[in-house]
Amino acid sequence: MDSNKRPDNMVRITTKELAEAFIDAQVKAVREQVGDKKVLLALSGGVDSSVVAALLIKAIGKQLVCVHVNHGLMRKGESENVIEVFKNGLDANLIYVDATDRFLDLLAGVSDPESKRKIIGAEFINVFDEEAAKLDGISFLAQGTIYPDILESIKQAEGKKAVKSHHNVGGLPEEMEMELVEPIKLLFKDEVRVVGDALGLPHGMVYRQPFPGPGLGVRCLGAITRDRLHALREADTILREEFEISGLAGKVWQYFVVVPDMKSVGVKDESRYEGWPAIIRAVNTTDAMTASIEELPYALLHKVTSRITSEVEGINRVLYDITPKPTGTIEWE
Ligand code: XMP
Repeated sequence: MDSNKRPDNMVRITTKELAEAFIDAQVKAVREQVGDKKVLLALSGGVDSSVVAALLIKAIGKQLVCVHVNHGLMRKGESENVIEVFKNGLDANLIYVDATDRFLDLLAGVSDPESKRKIIGAEFINVFDEEAAKLDGISFLAQGTIYPDILESIKQAEGKKAVKSHHNVGGLPEEMEMELVEPIKLLFKDEVRVVGDALGLPHGMVYRQPFPGPGLGVRCLGAITRDRLHALREADTILREEFEISGLAGKVWQYFVVVPDMKSVGVKDESRYEGWPAIIRAVNTTDAMTASIEELPYALLHKVTSRITSEVEGINRVLYDITPKPTGTIEWE
């Protein structure tokens, strides 16, 4: 049987009971596969790698070594949250690498979107490889592969072209000679979330909106600078806070802020104030191939605009992107 093919009669995991049965079966399977050997996992803090981490901690405890690479392009508080949940909460064997300077130095002056993506992807592998080389006796590499990833690679193998070089921080180092552990590879995303809930992961982590592997790097348009990246991160935090307050969080597929590398003239404290615009995007989709716009209430737009322009240094305007996909992609780069 092809282990990468979801059996036709596989029951969809829709309830806590089904998730618990799945977890029990995977705990057993992982213990059998791994024995007393060590397993390495790149833990980005995304839903898939987090669920794999929690599952493997349940199965093999400290035989799992998690590496969390902070590429400096995470949203505010995200790396801290990974440490809190896994190291403090689940007592994971977690290595935290703050590689912010390495990534930002490499990205300095690079404005082409594909070059940026390639640099981030390649440097992620470098950092991860370096950490792996410091460890002894690792025999397995765990990955948060899910079924849509398998279907996507089949499509690519059939020669269908991708619009962007997507990459998942958390599942790349193919050249590593380790056996793979992929406990959720036959699950769809909604099933992964049910399993994550059953494992007791925080709601915010399990229902986290999709976040691209290159992170804020594809939302800080053109050549990334630290000050503009900081402004983007702060503006994004405000947008997410206001979505929570308004009750829209969890109802909209993806919402975020983009900051382009252009300035316009504005006025603040009765003086000329040149600043960047913050662009708000909120979209809904089922498969990310096409997307429609969430029509945000004006009250929310006003509040977000007022907070971003008054609280975030360097931003003097807020724009609202109402372009569906196509013609816009969801991300701007
Ligand atoms: P686009 O911009 O192509 O995005 O319409 C479609 C969906 O994919 C997400 N995205 C990524 N996800 N690695 C990922 O894991 C990536 O490199 C990447 N780039 C885009 C995007 O946020 C949207 O949900």
